[in-house]
Amino acid sequence: MTPTPLSNEPAAFLRIGGGRALRGQVAVAGAKNAALPMMAAGILGRGATWLEGVPELGDVEILGRVLQTLGVAVGREPDGRLRIEPDDRRAGQVRAGYELVRRMRASFCVLGPLLARRGRAEVALPGGCAIGDRPVDLHLAALAAMGATIEIEHGYVVASARRLVGTRVSMTGPRGPSVTGTANVLSAATLARGETTITGAAVEPEIVDLGRMLVAMGAKIDGLGTPTLRIEGVDTLSGITHRVIPDRIEAATLLLAAAITQGDVTVTGCVPEHIAAVLETLRAVGCKVEVYNEETGGTGVSPVENTFHGQDARATQAVRVSMSDRPRSIDIVAKPYPGVPTDVQAQWMALLALADGTSTIQDRVFPGRFMHVAELARLGARIEATDGRAVISGVDRLSGADVRATDLRAGAALVLAGLAAEGQTTVTGLEHLDRGYERLDSKLASLEAQIERVDSIA
Ligand code: EPZ
Repeated sequence: MTPTPLSNEPAAFLRIGGGRALRGQVAVAGAKNAALPMMAAGILGRGATWLEGVPELGDVEILGRVLQTLGVAVGREPDGRLRIEPDDRRAGQVRAGYELVRRMRASFCVLGPLLARRGRAEVALPGGCAIGDRPVDLHLAALAAMGATIEIEHGYVVASARRLVGTRVSMTGPRGPSVTGTANVLSAATLARGETTITGAAVEPEIVDLGRMLVAMGAKIDGLGTPTLRIEGVDTLSGITHRVIPDRIEAATLLLAAAITQGDVTVTGCVPEHIAAVLETLRAVGCKVEVYNEETGGTGVSPVENTFHGQDARATQAVRVSMSDRPRSIDIVAKPYPGVPTDVQAQWMALLALADGTSTIQDRVFPGRFMHVAELARLGARIEATDGRAVISGVDRLSGADVRATDLRAGAALVLAGLAAEGQTTVTGLEHLDRGYERLDSKLASLEAQIERVDSIA
């Protein structure tokens, strides 16, 4: 059945024929949540910064437009690298407008770099979000502690500081560290006067990779990957070339697609330790999980040392997941890294909808991130979500239906459920999926999924 879009709805949708086991090999793209703060950090460099491995995503496109309004040239080179080049003659452009920021809240990542490099920033408050309450108090408190004057005027954060001054700040709130808060303050601290200590910092791989990039630009940072970061401010940073780490959330999504369709899929170019909790949980529900060297095919932990243009090596490997039965039921708690990521919670819910028994999911990061429950129920899932806890009663089968994505990862969950459901499923709301997955339908089709993207209603 072809869904008829309401007049103001984008017409595109995915048509999925469910019930086919995914088989084959697919490469993972560069990490969206590493690329975005890195693009913003390009503001800090004197001269151009080139980022390698930045995926073609809606979020990247929007942040590029935000940077262009800030007098920063952004463009794809013929070889695919993304160039970020601040123009000092346009240093007076420090306002990131609501029209773009509301569409991509991670645009808020420009706050720290703008403030540090130009002494002033006017960034729209990001506003609401489908996955829950998204305050920015930790970002603002830390920058204020570093000497910034911060006003909230007409929906904008207006921040100014002749030069930030290093001090001790915390990045942890009631539900753990703030990832983009850490990115904002880490970036800002690189040009502050003196030493900044960030306690309770996010330890996500995307933050470690941002830190590596900043160090390559000339920043002095210790403690990357630990909850305590020490940054000795410097006067200038230089533009460099940096390769973005692989996207651990995309890798996990593709591996869960293998599990839910009882297939056999190898994801290449990923960093297994970035998804260790996901791999452990896949084994717990009955999947066979192998990690091996992409070059030799041998199993084992010796990662392939891929050195990109003389950059520090990235150890990427291949992960193979195969499943020949219904998943066992399990209790999952989504937590900050290195726990099961909140960004994979919805995808887990789709898989556990078919488990043999009752499972539970809690999300300690975004307790209200259960918008996908109602849409999964349309496919026949039996899920009760109350007070930040979902109880999933496994069913023998899901049945195809028309469903709509409410946010990026909920969309991914609906695609996974559609791949396993009997009959046809259509998924609308692709503007959400396109924000964070590069050609997801093509990647799944290359794994023998029956999926097509219909970009306009015939
Ligand atoms: C990042 O969002 C990711 N986005 C999110 O991924 C991810 O879900 C989230 O981290 C958690 O891992 C990017 O990196 C671009 P937080 P972020 O600040 O930084 C509370 C996706 O699907 N908090 O780490 O905005 C907050 O309410 C997206 O790719 C405060 O209390 O999230 C939440 O409960 C969705 N005060 C917790 O901390 C603050 O000032 C973690 O939020 C900031 C956050």
